Amino acid sequence: MGYITWDSSYTVNVRSCDLQHQKLFQLINALQEAMKTGKARAYAQRIVEELRRYTESHFQAEEALLERTNYPALAEHRAQHHVFISQIEKFEADLAGGAHISISLMDFLKNWLTNHIQTMDRKYSNHLNHHGVH
Ligand code: FEO
Repeated sequence: MGYITWDSSYTVNVRSCDLQHQKLFQLINALQEAMKTGKARAYAQRIVEELRRYTESHFQAEEALLERTNYPALAEHRAQHHVFISQIEKFEADLAGGAHISISLMDFLKNWLTNHIQTMDRKYSNHLNHHGVH
């Protein structure tokens, strides 16, 4: 079992978003595995970069759905996304400067993502479903 496991408690009832969230879980698991097995820092850097890129593309896709359907809490949601991307960019810079992946970084990624999905993301389920997005 991975560090973070997707199950039905994380569903947002929108298939594309669920699949993208599952991919984010996979990337966090890959990073955790790299840390646990002492993989080279360059390898961890590549995973963090992939995580940042994939997170950006997921956020863009999600925000586009919310924008298209006039989601009332889009600004607040988008602001949370920006904060998370800024954090990942900071970790990328730290790694490039010689830092190693830490347990606190892993816990931050895991906790932020699971909390965000189970609170902010789940709030849009009914709204998107109501607009025919499933
Ligand atoms: Fe699925 Fe708001 O990120």
